[in-house]
Amino acid sequence: MVPSADLGRRAYTTYCTRCHGINLVVGSSAFFDLRTFPPEDKDRFLSSVSKGLRAMPAWGGIVKQHEMESIWLYIGSVNGWEGSAGR
Ligand code: HEC
Repeated sequence: MVPSADLGRRAYTTYCTRCHGINLVVGSSAFFDLRTFPPEDKDRFLSSVSKGLRAMPAWGGIVKQHEMESIWLYIGSVNGWEGSAGR
């Protein structure tokens, strides 16, 4: 499967929306605001999401690699990272 922002949007909706909010608009400061995630830090994204971070569960066994890549593209598209390091 080729990663795409569209696939990412669907995976995000399934796995991430309940904490990180619809269209990344987070409802509580208890959850990281993904609109502020640094576009140059894809490695940190993949690592935190795979392994979990404090109150966030690890997604490594649940979200497939191409879905994680797709969620990254989706976050980039919502945040307008087009043409930046996020692509
Ligand atoms: C059960 C609630 C919950 C769900 C579901 C959830 N997260 Fe999180 N997430 C959190 C919390 C809480 C934090 C803040 C962790 C901290 O810094 O203490 C966080 C932080 C993050 C961060 C920032 C990590 C960093 O390095 O600072 C990223 C990226 C992230 N989440 C992505 C995702 C993605 C992608 C999904 C869906 C696959 C997801 N989260 C699903 C609760 C959740």
